[in-house]
Amino acid sequence: MKDLVGRTAFVTGAASGIGLAIATSLAQAGVKVMLCDIEEPALAAAVAKLKQTNADVDGVKADVSLKSELQAAADATIARFGKVHILVNNAGVSGGGVYRAWTDAAWNWTLDINLMAVVWGMEIFGPLIEQHGDGGHIVSTASLAGLVASPNLIPYCVSKYGVVAISEALRVELAPRGIGVSVLCPGVIRTQIMESERNLPPRFDRSVGDIVRTGPTSERLQGLREQMSASGIDPAYVGELVREGIENDWAYIFTDNEYEPAIEKRFTAIKAGFDHIRGRVPPR
Ligand code: NAI
Repeated sequence: MKDLVGRTAFVTGAASGIGLAIATSLAQAGVKVMLCDIEEPALAAAVAKLKQTNADVDGVKADVSLKSELQAAADATIARFGKVHILVNNAGVSGGGVYRAWTDAAWNWTLDINLMAVVWGMEIFGPLIEQHGDGGHIVSTASLAGLVASPNLIPYCVSKYGVVAISEALRVELAPRGIGVSVLCPGVIRTQIMESERNLPPRFDRSVGDIVRTGPTSERLQGLREQMSASGIDPAYVGELVREGIENDWAYIFTDNEYEPAIEKRFTAIKAGFDHIRGRVPPR
């Protein structure tokens, strides 16, 4: 979408970190933005701050891991702005737990927010973008953990691999309909992601919070927390990259090259798998 001025965007997880930065960059580029988040006070503060810049923005509270709430947020967006052109599926949590410490509740929390909300976002907003014929764009926040699996973050990686997969496939399907699809794969960004359990929806077992706060999961997260505060990238930079990615229809939006060698290593390992069977003729 080359011309963003006057378009409308819906951004989830927009009260903090990367989502707030994307909402801010889009608003500064003249896009009307509906900010969506589960954390009401932070959402109200973000909307109030953006309104001071004369941006045309509003906020809607929703737990995106509930399809009915995401649908209601879409209805509120159409009621407020008339049309929607850009969907940013960004809300996410760091949870899940490590092997032998994870639980069904922890998996559900991670998959419902990080993956199912993306699926539902595409399902609900896709037709709304298609129907006006102006074209549009969908960006979903995965992670480098959606391209390289890390042994201590398995549920998170599974959710993010899913976001990469749905984005890659939908990009092919929606291109002929004038809708671009990008997947954002950030490195380490300075946000509140390590405090994700602050917004654990009440329907999930409280033990999910305990998993994140204690034991091996907390040790793993502590390492990331330290890395984030020491050398985490400014989210404002990521917001600008996403705007550029939408304008130029980038398939993958990366934030830095730090983990590029890890991805190359994975591709090499996959290639080696094919090399094992090269030249053999499978019986059919
Ligand atoms: P953050 O914690 O600062 O922001 C996440 C936002 O999502 C918060 O405002 C939170 O209230 C909202 N949220 C959480 N659960 C929700 C729910 N059920 N319904 C609606 N909103 C909900 O964290 P950050 O880092 O800005 O996270 C944004 C995305 O970036 C996530 O998908 C995360 O997995 C991804 N990411 C972050 C990286 C980082 O280093 N910070 C690296 C790679 C990916």
